Amino acid sequence: MLLKISIVSLILATLSEFNKVSGQDIRHFPDDFLFGAATASYQIEGAWNVDGKSDSIWDHLTHTVPCTVADCSNGDIADNSYYLYKRDIEMLRELGVDYYRFSISWPRLLPTSFTDHVNPAGVEYYNNLINEMLKYNITPMVTLYHWELPQKLQELGGWTNPSMIDWYGDYAKIAFELFGDRVKFWITVNEPHLICHRGYGSTTMAPRLNMQGTGEYLCAKNLMLAHARAWHIYNDEYRSLQKGNISITISATWYEPESEKDAAAAEDYHQFDWGIYAHTVFSEEGGWPHLVADRIATKSELQGFARSRLPALTAEEASNLLGSSDFYGLNHYSSVYVYRNESVVGLYESPSYYDDIEAGTFRLDEWKISPNSSVNMVPWGFYKLLSKIRKDYNNPPIIITENGFATAGGLEDDDRVKYFRGYMAAMLDAIEEGSDIRAYTAWSLMDNFEWMDGYTRRFGLYEVDYESLERTRTPRKSAFVFKEILRTRSLDPNYEPTTTTITIDPGH
Ligand code: BGC
Repeated sequence: MLLKISIVSLILATLSEFNKVSGQDIRHFPDDFLFGAATASYQIEGAWNVDGKSDSIWDHLTHTVPCTVADCSNGDIADNSYYLYKRDIEMLRELGVDYYRFSISWPRLLPTSFTDHVNPAGVEYYNNLINEMLKYNITPMVTLYHWELPQKLQELGGWTNPSMIDWYGDYAKIAFELFGDRVKFWITVNEPHLICHRGYGSTTMAPRLNMQGTGEYLCAKNLMLAHARAWHIYNDEYRSLQKGNISITISATWYEPESEKDAAAAEDYHQFDWGIYAHTVFSEEGGWPHLVADRIATKSELQGFARSRLPALTAEEASNLLGSSDFYGLNHYSSVYVYRNESVVGLYESPSYYDDIEAGTFRLDEWKISPNSSVNMVPWGFYKLLSKIRKDYNNPPIIITENGFATAGGLEDDDRVKYFRGYMAAMLDAIEEGSDIRAYTAWSLMDNFEWMDGYTRRFGLYEVDYESLERTRTPRKSAFVFKEILRTRSLDPNYEPTTTTITIDPGH
């Protein structure tokens, strides 16, 4: 009898393992888990020169070198959310999200870049947006810097100028003062790697400085110190009154070694891509990761630089950075394989970020790759990344602040559905192993200006019709699937939407 029971339980257990592996199980999210959707100001607001707003580096870039963007487009109108924000909130209600992550445009709030003039129209716009959300119990999660630097500050050196730490701190303080009574989640900076590496170390994002191996490290220091400044201002002056949370969002790719002998190369990539930022805040000892600091110092000396291209952090700076977080904001999209062999020696321009790493990357042909983009579908990479963060940084509370997949457009976005399901399942695997993941944010609520790709790549749960003056927003299949996940707080791989009409459920 006992033997029979154990055979039955063995079969059941095997079946359940099989179901899990083949993705057939319905899986549940923790009770207090939160879901949201995200956008960013330049990507959706439009109204680029309206009501006193001044130019950002993206206005400047798209107006002075338009065809640096894939379709020679810009964010002048984008999704016109400056005027259509009520529709955006309606969509969030349709989806049933708990929170909305959006960003404040610095040049809309402070057109001179400084605090001498706070733009009343900018204040009114963000007040309206926040109040509209709160009316429907949608929690605002506000990014202070999602790449919209006032152009005037760029002319003063942008993130290579140490005064940026003060200027950014002043801007953050104004935002806390104006909106902190209602905003309980703040993100200081979105993705330091992209800001510094792409903007200062290459030509693939504004301001396209292409100061390889130097500009990006100068940027890294000032940007991280600016983050710490804002965190401390909030912590010292606002936290006790406003009782919110504030942190930074760090983007991270998963770097998988091609073989065991490439483990060190993959670790180098992890540390140069995102560890350089995360270590300063989330590690036990703080400061730059030794691996990165030592490599750059050694190479700099060999290259004839008078000092390391990575500026040192003083003990005081390192201590200001360490622990300047209430959660780990993580953006994740993709994975790559990493290798190191003779073929990469001397391959990259020197000095450069790539030469500092000295390793190669590739993707597998069988991975699903979104059109014209580097985003690929590798859910196990997300799981491995979450596990690494748990182990390396003593299991910090994590908010996934972005995750999503691009398509070329169209309402039947099965690839996006597959991506969301696969990545959420990977996240649940990590949660089951102890990762403290509190929330998941889909990128993006709707199609928007996708930086250098203009409107050629679509990330939206809602499709936006850029031919229509109304910028009509229509839910894609993924919107219905996302809504069902949120409604049931579970992941049912077999759920198929049976309607094309989306409505607001009671209570939203
Ligand atoms: C950025 C978003 C962007 C998304 C998709 C992230 O790096 O934060 O602004 O649209 O990736 O490329």
